[in-house]
Amino acid sequence: SLPRAVKIVEVGPRDGLQNEKQQVPAAVKIELVDRLSAAGFRNVESASFVSPKWVPQMADAAEVMAGIARRPGTIYSVLTPNLKGFEGALAAQADEVVIFGAASEAFSQRNINCSIAESVARFEPVARAAKDNGLRLRGSISCALGCPYQGDVPVPAVVDVVQRFAELGCDEIDIADTIGVGTPKRTHEVFAAVTKVFPRERLSGHFHDTYGQALANIYASLLEGIEIFHASVAGLGGCPYAKGATGNVATEDVLYLMNGLGIETGVDLDQVVDIGHFISSAIGRPNASRAGRALLAK
Ligand code: HMG
Ligand code: MG
Repeated sequence: SLPRAVKIVEVGPRDGLQNEKQQVPAAVKIELVDRLSAAGFRNVESASFVSPKWVPQMADAAEVMAGIARRPGTIYSVLTPNLKGFEGALAAQADEVVIFGAASEAFSQRNINCSIAESVARFEPVARAAKDNGLRLRGSISCALGCPYQGDVPVPAVVDVVQRFAELGCDEIDIADTIGVGTPKRTHEVFAAVTKVFPRERLSGHFHDTYGQALANIYASLLEGIEIFHASVAGLGGCPYAKGATGNVATEDVLYLMNGLGIETGVDLDQVVDIGHFISSAIGRPNASRAGRALLAK
């Protein structure tokens, strides 16, 4: 049976905007985060404390975090690849830090410039610091359903990283289809395997929609009992280290699906449609949400 309620983690301000060539003003990012929290998202991934040489768009993370209006109960998450990033996150009063590894060696090298084993060693002090400071810790696993460089990623490789992240003390672990190549069959196989080694209710599905499979994969995940999904308003995004990859599944589309299934999200679809229009206009991009476009045209 399907879950009664799910948590939608809005990742547009981070995953959605990180790839934009034109610097998006901090004021726009701040308005985006504030409008999202007001629409009911309990968790907004707001920025990355990463090297500005690698991801220039996230260079204003501290300014964005300082400018947002904290909504009580909302978790503001940020990406932290190393201790330097963690220190930035702590100073910015993030609620949750995200370490991000990959199930594929080739992708790990291109995204964070080290092997999977080296990345776990690098995350260890970040994880400890998060625990010591009472921050939530999330682990994100890229290329869990396929890799742009090595192609197929065996299910045991995903299980292995989930176990390593579990040992680091992750509160939540994301199964990420970075380049959107996964299909419902593989999604089912991966979740059936990883739920054997990590609690189902703390696993999330992070789907990109490159091949148009994201909603089908979310449905397959729901059938495995997964209750946390990542999405990006207006389908913003792409990945700098995965050529041709499109954005995350659009939040509006996910909300439309959940509403149709009678699954509670706590988020107001109409408000999110407006936010999708706001951010697409602000950055001069077509709105990539099908439901968003349809509802705007009404
Ligand atoms: P490196 O070059 O190997 O590291 O990068 P380094 O320690 O040699 O540092 C190089 C320079 O970066 C130094 O500056 C550091 O100070 C600086 P310099 O001395 O040359 O002036 N630096 C930093 N600056 C600010 N904040 C930091 C930081 N760390 C170092 N935290 C590193 C290694 C991991 C830092 C780099 O590769 C990096 O920042 N990568 C970020 C990659 C990234 O953000 N990718 C996108 C997010 S992941 C994603 O989108 C996938 C996800 O959505 C799930 C999915 O869909 O798969 C989560
Ligand atoms: Mg992503």
